[in-house]
Amino acid sequence: MGKPILSTYELRKLFPVEGRILNKSSKYVHALDKVNLDIMPCTTFGLLGESGCGKSTYAQLVTRLIEPTSGTIEFKETDISNMNKRELRERKIHCQIQMVFQNPADVLSPRKTIEFLLKEPLKINKLYENEKEISSKVEELLNKVNLRPELLTRFPHQLSGGQQQRICIARALSLNPDFIVLDEPTSALDVSVQAKILNLLMDLQKEESLTYLLITHDIRVAEYICTDIAVMYLGEIVEIVKAEDFRNSARHPYSKLLIESSFAENELSNREAESAGELPSPINLPKGCRFRSRCPESIPICSDIHPDLINLPDGTKCRCHRVK
Ligand SMILES: Nc1ncnc2c1ncn2[C@@H]1O[C@H](COP(=O)(O)OP(=O)(O)O)[C@@H](O)[C@H]1O
Ligand code: SF4
Ligand SMILES: [Mg+2]
Repeated sequence: MGKPILSTYELRKLFPVEGRILNKSSKYVHALDKVNLDIMPCTTFGLLGESGCGKSTYAQLVTRLIEPTSGTIEFKETDISNMNKRELRERKIHCQIQMVFQNPADVLSPRKTIEFLLKEPLKINKLYENEKEISSKVEELLNKVNLRPELLTRFPHQLSGGQQQRICIARALSLNPDFIVLDEPTSALDVSVQAKILNLLMDLQKEESLTYLLITHDIRVAEYICTDIAVMYLGEIVEIVKAEDFRNSARHPYSKLLIESSFAENELSNREAESAGELPSPINLPKGCRFRSRCPESIPICSDIHPDLINLPDGTKCRCHRVK
């Protein structure tokens, strides 16, 4: 086994709760709690969990868009957790680690042409000598994401959601990254377009030897594209399993709930799945197991003792008193 391209150790992010409390030692949102993950090169590592569990916080930490409260982020065996903006730029870390967001419309300035938007990162990062090289790179990028050159003169609103996301993927690729964080890259798109974008991402991964961190609340997306799946609940990893074994090997009661609700396709059963509860507050964390309030399998120890994430003989990891 080679070395991970990205590792986090005990990575933590607390957001202070503003308002109401005036003194300094106010309350905190425990968005991410001591997350240890190793992501191997050229794999797609999935982070799966419902809205509010801390997925985007993890994405923003590893791309260094926000500062960690504590813990370490290692990229290619270099500690990047405390690098400032200048160091990240000088060492080209900000080029090597790229991100694709859920809503292309939030990223693509509405008043700029597609040509401008594709050239912008190349110019800012001074990757090419002259205008001719930049233009040929733009042509190559459009080709990679299967878009026609006619689109260059258009504005973002004149493109479909799928085409806009292809532009965002092209912009990420333009800086020759090794690692791309995909934060719900297909959640804002029509179902018919989702698979096309996922297939494009998989093709690009092979062609460019990319590593992906894919963030999703959709178990089917995770199973379709990922190599490994880590399930998150209330800021913690509760299980890590190979994606191909997920339905058969996942043992954590929360993973099992996610699997069950993914079978619930009609509206009525979706509502039933939702009634299984909501995420408790990440401000006042429950004592014991964080999943206790929704767990159909809880036992007395679950109210008192917070379970550790333990390694199981089959190579999976699980955080549950009942799984040993
Ligand atoms: N900038 C912020 N300030 C305060 N709380 C935040 C901030 N960003 C996220 N949170 C909180 O942290 C938790 C995790 O959020 P997030 O990482 O966005 O979850 P996800 O991406 O899984 O939906 C949520 O409770 C959210 O409200
Ligand atoms: S530790 Fe207890 S409450 Fe938590 S998931 Fe396991 S059985 Fe459920
Ligand atoms: Mg999110």
